[in-house]
Amino acid sequence: MSDTQVQAQLAIEGAFVKARINPRMFGSFVEHLGRCVYTGIYEPHHPTADSHGFRQDVIDLVKELGVTTIRYPGGNFVSGYRWEDGVGDDRPRRLDTAWHSTETNEFGLHEMAHWLTAVGGNELMEAVNLGTRGTSEALDLLEYANIPQGTALSERRIRNGARDPFGIRMWCLGNEMDGPWQLGHKTAREYARLAEITACAMKQIDPDLELVVCGSSSHGMPTFASWEHTVLKETFNDVDFISCHAYYHPEDGDINSFLASGVDMNSFIHDVAAVIDATAAELKSTHQVAISFDEWNVWYQDSEPSKTPEGIGNWPQAPRLLEDSYSVLDAVVFGDLLITLLKNADRVQAASLAQLVNVIAPIMTEPNGPAWRQTTFFPFALTAELAKDAEVYETQQRSTRHETDKYGWVDSVDSVAVRTRDDSLAVFVVNRSLDSAADFTVTLPSSDFTRVDVSTLHDDDMSAANTVDDQMRVSPQTNTDATLEGDTVHVILPAVSWSVIHIRK
Ligand code: AHR
Repeated sequence: MSDTQVQAQLAIEGAFVKARINPRMFGSFVEHLGRCVYTGIYEPHHPTADSHGFRQDVIDLVKELGVTTIRYPGGNFVSGYRWEDGVGDDRPRRLDTAWHSTETNEFGLHEMAHWLTAVGGNELMEAVNLGTRGTSEALDLLEYANIPQGTALSERRIRNGARDPFGIRMWCLGNEMDGPWQLGHKTAREYARLAEITACAMKQIDPDLELVVCGSSSHGMPTFASWEHTVLKETFNDVDFISCHAYYHPEDGDINSFLASGVDMNSFIHDVAAVIDATAAELKSTHQVAISFDEWNVWYQDSEPSKTPEGIGNWPQAPRLLEDSYSVLDAVVFGDLLITLLKNADRVQAASLAQLVNVIAPIMTEPNGPAWRQTTFFPFALTAELAKDAEVYETQQRSTRHETDKYGWVDSVDSVAVRTRDDSLAVFVVNRSLDSAADFTVTLPSSDFTRVDVSTLHDDDMSAANTVDDQMRVSPQTNTDATLEGDTVHVILPAVSWSVIHIRK
């Protein structure tokens, strides 16, 4: 273990709670991309497949991960998708131009609804295609999915095997429409009008729907902030969320800055919240718009092709795309992104880890082979277990700081504290320092606590990862450098580590 040079203190004042954490914070994302669906969650000939063709080994891991809402079916994919292709008996094979693949449409809306039942009744967050399609097709899908009976499309759903409507409440109005790579990419003004017309039309069918309008594809987009302002000004009173998307990786090998990625996510959230508030003021509106951080993760975008090579005749079926292998370092950054989301639970009321299986995912599979947990699986599962439906405390933190090239001076330790459903206390914390352990002190709201358990994700080799051949090379370990005396907890956090501190009465 490295020398302890970093000092950090967290003070929790029991009376001050910032926000309840919406269970939707622990959502994930299943896109028709690479092997997320095919040979990921769905593989009819797999030895563990159930009668629907769903891999039971994956279902078990998804339950253990603790994800809630699932965003579906894309992503870039949705901007060329015809939802009708994925229902009924006729399933045409189509070109998926987003990922240069062949989509068999073997899996569609009904299969997703069945799979969600199999993983525990999780909520579906459905995206409509506002790239190549528009309001009319969005209304058709809404009628097909949610109208109980008695219309052409609801009766078609019933004929296709679903007597009960799917009851989808949360809808994304397109995906990343600000991105030049997006099929049907639009200017902010073009998208704003289409989103507003579609939102009003969908709410004419059901005013209780919760609609997510597209924000920027990243904090660094050239149109960031002006996009949000234009879109919100047009749609404000008819939408409930604006999306944020963010992916991080070490740029030019700068691991020191990469470890502080949470700093960028935090300012992204604050910037979007500022635009929401400014737009509300401008419109004199009391309507609430929250943030749906519906794509977030570590993604080594520079070091892999995100598409198969283009060319007529080269449209593979379920190719291996975006199959990043995550190290301990990645899991620490990932854990810090989760901490950042929780710290902003007053504004971020939904989030989707992109994605769930095989594609930049916490769960990996081999066709006809095993399924296993990546390093990022652990911070997600342990945070979800304790923070789902918990309350975030208003805390004060002081930490040693260090300098990064990208974000300047940053806190070496980042943490968040929550009151769990059973009135225990959990602190999630990262040590971002590359070379120093941290002496971390937590001052509790009272001396009523009797027990502290700390689990730490760390490895002396921060590039260590879980692989098909060594599936449990990395997992969180009990941290024995932890003490509880009166109202004070002391823990030593190794350099480049993520920990959960669970404190009980
Ligand atoms: O999650 C992978 C891709 O990243 C999604 O399809 C897209 O929305 C984003 O650019």
